[in-house]
Amino acid sequence: MEVSSNNKEIISMKNISKIYKMGINEFTALSEVELSILRGEYVAIVGPSGAGKSTLMNIIGCLDTPTKGEYILDGLNTKCSDSKLAEIRNSKIGFIFQNYNLLPKLNILENVELPLWYSGVPNSKAKKMALEAIGKVGLETHIKHKPSELSGGQMQRVAIARALVTNPQIILADEPTGALDSKSGKEVLNMLSDLNKEGNTIIMITHDKEIASNAKRIITVRDGKIISDYLNKVEGKEVLK
Ligand SMILES: Nc1ncnc2c1ncn2[C@@H]1O[C@H](COP(=O)(O)OP(=O)(O)O)[C@@H](O)[C@H]1O
Ligand SMILES: [Mg+2]
Repeated sequence: MEVSSNNKEIISMKNISKIYKMGINEFTALSEVELSILRGEYVAIVGPSGAGKSTLMNIIGCLDTPTKGEYILDGLNTKCSDSKLAEIRNSKIGFIFQNYNLLPKLNILENVELPLWYSGVPNSKAKKMALEAIGKVGLETHIKHKPSELSGGQMQRVAIARALVTNPQIILADEPTGALDSKSGKEVLNMLSDLNKEGNTIIMITHDKEIASNAKRIITVRDGKIISDYLNKVEGKEVLK
């Protein structure tokens, strides 16, 4: 299973295409994408609606598989059974979604514990780990609250804690500020920057160039292809990757 010896490279995509079949019609949503992301990077993937961002994110996050090409995630070939792919996804990736995706009947502590229950961590250990993750996003005082009792910004902080709790190799955020007012959006972006400073690899999907400018590297997707890839604000300049 272990195929990569390059320990710095966390994502390696070679010649990735995704073709959706609809009856007799085919649509190429991603076309021969080559992508390499190193451990510790903070990458934004931008592009207009329909560009292929969600398709790319679904493949990166092991929620879907490419039609063609090779995707190696943290040294593991993702061409494998669905159950193995789910295992890779649960152990390697923390997800943050635009609409938080918290479970309304569970309180904050339970929402953050959830990914640990899935991976069979004993209850007392799960509680300890969840409390630590909730502490990182400053919501210790709200552990017994239900999601509906929190603001949007607070709910997204819970989602960040849930993404962090398994100690994933990659944090994958899909329009993480899309449903937030600008002040809470900034807080969430600052939190992502802090997590990156602590060494976490972050990949953020957004259609908004200004939000993308928070990342250190900006990849633009259009018509299923990467059309630009540059390091952001290196000594005030945009540098081609
Ligand atoms: N399940 C699907 N079946 C058919 N076409 C799809 C499917 N998902 C996405 N597409 C098409 O692929 C293209 C890229 O979609 P998507 O990855 O969602 O773009 P983005 O997230 O950048 O808006 C769009 O033209 C979309 O209509
Ligand atoms: Mg999308």
